[in-house]
Amino acid sequence: MSSKNEVSVVGAGLMGTGIAHGFAVAGCDVLLIDPAQGALDKALKSIGKLLDEGVSRGKLAEADAQAAKARITTATTLDERLANAALLVETAVENIEIKHTILKDAAALLPSTAFLATNTSALSISEIASVIDTPGRVIGMHFFNPVPKMKLVEIIRGLETSDEALVQAIDWVKRLGKDHIVVNEAPGFTTSRMSAMMGNEAMYMLAEGVASAEDIDKSLRMAFNHPMGPLELGDLTGWDTRLRVLQYLHGVMGEKFRPCPLIIKMVKAGRHGRKVGRGVYEYDENGAKVPGSGLRAVR
Ligand SMILES: NC(=O)c1ccc[n+]([C@@H]2O[C@H](COP(=O)([O-])OP(=O)(O)OC[C@H]3O[C@@H](n4cnc5c(N)ncnc54)[C@H](O)[C@@H]3O)[C@@H](O)[C@H]2O)c1
Repeated sequence: MSSKNEVSVVGAGLMGTGIAHGFAVAGCDVLLIDPAQGALDKALKSIGKLLDEGVSRGKLAEADAQAAKARITTATTLDERLANAALLVETAVENIEIKHTILKDAAALLPSTAFLATNTSALSISEIASVIDTPGRVIGMHFFNPVPKMKLVEIIRGLETSDEALVQAIDWVKRLGKDHIVVNEAPGFTTSRMSAMMGNEAMYMLAEGVASAEDIDKSLRMAFNHPMGPLELGDLTGWDTRLRVLQYLHGVMGEKFRPCPLIIKMVKAGRHGRKVGRGVYEYDENGAKVPGSGLRAVR
C-alpha cells in the first residue's frame, strides 16, 4: 500500500542530494538509492550541512532539521521498500541505458499507483518511458542546481505521459515550495537547450583566446545581469554532465550543438567542475573559487 509521503530518489550525486534534501524538508520519507556507497555517504554529509545551514540562517527549527535528517534512509540497490513509494525520482547519470535499467527494475517493485519522474537534462521522456508497460506514469521533473536555492522545476510531458501524471507532478512541485513550467517534450526542453548552447559558445571563445575565463564570465554577469557566468555555471553543473547533454543535442539537433573540443579535453583530464574541485576554475577545500585560477586554454 503506497503512502502519499514516500519518495524514492535514485542517484545520490549532485542532484539526488539536493532533491532528497528538498523532499525530506517538505515532510516526505525519502529512500535515497545509489550503487556507490561513497556517493550515499557524501550525500548524507551534504544534506546534514544544508540542514545545519538552514538552522543557523533561521529558516528551519532545530527540531525540524533533525526530523528531516531522520526521514532519509539509504540503499545501494532498488529493493522491496519501493513498494511504499508514491513517487520515484530517477536522477542517475545522463545515460539512456542506465535510466532504462532503473525504470524497468523500479516498475517491477513500485505500486501500480506510483509515478516515475526523471530528472534527465535533455533526453527523450518518451524514450525513457518506453521500456515499461505503463509509460503514462512517466514524466520529466527537471530540477536545477543547486536544488535548495533554485525555485523552478521544468515539467516535461512525453508522448504517453498521462494527465494524472502531470497533475501529480505539479502537486509534488508545490509541496516542495517551488514553481513550475510545463514543456512538451523536445530535446533539451527549454532550459538545457539554451544553457548548453551558451556554455558551449563560451568554451569556444575561451579556446580561441577571445578573452580570459574571468572576463567571459564577467561579461554575462555585468552586461546582462546573469547571477553567474557560463563557465562558472558549467563548473557548477559538471562538465561531464554538460558534455553528455551536448553530445545528445548534437546527435538529434545537428551541428549547432557540436561539443567544443576543449570541453572534451577537460573531461578527459578529469576537470569535471566544482564537484571535484577543478573545472575551468579551481576551488579550495571550502568550495571557494581560487582567484586567478581560470583555465588558460591558449598558451
Ligand atoms: N548537474 C546539474 O546541474 C543537473 C541539473 C539538472 C539535471 N541534471 C541531471 O540529473 C542527473 C544526475 O546528474 P548529477 O549532476 O547529479 O550527476 P552526478 O555525476 O553528480 O551523480 C550521478 C550519480 O548517479 C549514480 N549512478 C550511476 N549509476 C546508477 C544506477 N544504476 N542507479 C543509481 N544511481 C546510479 C552515480 O553513482 C552518481 O552518484 C543527470 O541525468 C543529469 O543530466 C543535472
